[in-house]
Amino acid sequence: TITRYYNLELKVVKLSPDGYERPVWTANGQFPAPLIQANKGDRLVINVTNNFGEGTAIHWHGIFQRESNWYDGVPGQTQCPIPDGVSFIYNYALDQSGTYWYHSHFMTQYVDGFVGPLIILDPDDPYKNSYQEDYVVLISDWYHSLSSLLLAQRLAPHYLGFSPYPDSVLISGLGQYNCSSPAAGENCNPNVPLPAYNVQKGKKYRFRIINTSALALSTFSIDNHPLSVIEVDGIPVKRAKAVNILQIHVAQRYSVILTANQPVANYYIRASIIDTCLLPRTTETINYNSSINYNATGILHYYGAESNKPTSTPYPVTMQSCGDLDPSVIRPYNNCPAPTNVTNEFVFNITFDRSENDIGILGINFSTYIPTFDNPTNQRIIGKENYKDFEKDQNAFGYDIPYGCVQITVLNNLIVNHPFHLHGHTFWLVASGPGPFLSNITTYNLENPVIRDTTNILPGSHIVIRYLADNPGVWAFHCHIEWHVSSGLVAQLIERPSEFSNQTLPEDVRALCSRYKKQKRLAT
Ligand code: C2O
Repeated sequence: TITRYYNLELKVVKLSPDGYERPVWTANGQFPAPLIQANKGDRLVINVTNNFGEGTAIHWHGIFQRESNWYDGVPGQTQCPIPDGVSFIYNYALDQSGTYWYHSHFMTQYVDGFVGPLIILDPDDPYKNSYQEDYVVLISDWYHSLSSLLLAQRLAPHYLGFSPYPDSVLISGLGQYNCSSPAAGENCNPNVPLPAYNVQKGKKYRFRIINTSALALSTFSIDNHPLSVIEVDGIPVKRAKAVNILQIHVAQRYSVILTANQPVANYYIRASIIDTCLLPRTTETINYNSSINYNATGILHYYGAESNKPTSTPYPVTMQSCGDLDPSVIRPYNNCPAPTNVTNEFVFNITFDRSENDIGILGINFSTYIPTFDNPTNQRIIGKENYKDFEKDQNAFGYDIPYGCVQITVLNNLIVNHPFHLHGHTFWLVASGPGPFLSNITTYNLENPVIRDTTNILPGSHIVIRYLADNPGVWAFHCHIEWHVSSGLVAQLIERPSEFSNQTLPEDVRALCSRYKKQKRLAT
């Protein structure tokens, strides 16, 4: 196996991604954070130096972390935060391939910019010879205020509970805010370049699209170029009819093939937030104002074209719903039926409630997750014979899930979307639909269901997922809307703790906790 080394120095830098200048949480001064790339079977050794001025922890979204649960990067569940001024090494093997990303899992830090792409190539990729070049595109909603300030407003007493609205949308870290609008202030740069991707007429290209947003479903399209989906959250899929507009929920990834078969010219690449998918909003909605710009553009440049602006026109928006992409275009490439023999079953109701001081909180079956940063759940299991004290934890589900098939039904009775992500696994999406799950009328698709790691649950709807408990550890299962995470919409799935307790925690992971506690003591 090949070991690949990366260094990430984390620091806050003033940048103007969409023209508007603000402090951005960067790695090596870059936003988005640098591309991490490896081959299937490699090992990644990533040395992180935290100079953010606060704690951090990095989650490698979609990576299984087999026998390395402590590198999953969830403070309070799998590690203590990396204190400010401290270096820490993440070290894990890759037994999967595809399009992934990494982001802070500490507070709402990723909303302030700490997100980056993680690509794992596979010499046996069925589509390896179907394209000339491989481009990575990050789409993100973007906020001009610090996430901590927006969060404080959201968690104020009496507030109705809706998420803050973004100010704009970015393509690979670049957007176009209207600098002459009243909200732009003085330090606004109206000349942010458009991100450009070069193609040669007659060739084919793979675009890997990652939605790193905090809140918003985004659309992605390239004028005059339909996109044929070949990968969903790391899983190769059968080629079906190409789509004009890709809709991609928070934390999801798609690879598409673009055929450069149009006249040599420049064409707009577009990413948009669909305002109606963010509804409802009220006059109280945090950050909503008339200057928001929910469209970002980039350029698809054919070699040989003049360097003028495109004149192409967008595809008409024909979205059926604010949910995931039509399942018929994302069937797995390899037939992989869902397990039929369910050994553990959970029903999770997404609930909204008010705390004693009238703060809006979310939960699962009215249990709201509050992390204990300095006492991660997995450290209460590893190396202990009597590991049961995690049962006192809020939202700790699934004790002693044996090897077998877990089924989770999630009911969303609320009026907003909830894109749910499962750590450490992919799942089969065996059912979804409006209303509550009713076993007498809902039909399962066990034959060829969609397989992925993040799926949206529409308002007033349900999903049913199945996954194999083949990875002992503590795994988060949560809505990926970062504002909802901060309101407690998180579960911990404790998988086979009796086997997990035998694994050995690396000394430097344990040492993080004493260092974090010490820094906290000094700070108070
Ligand atoms: Cu990308 Cu727990 O998340």
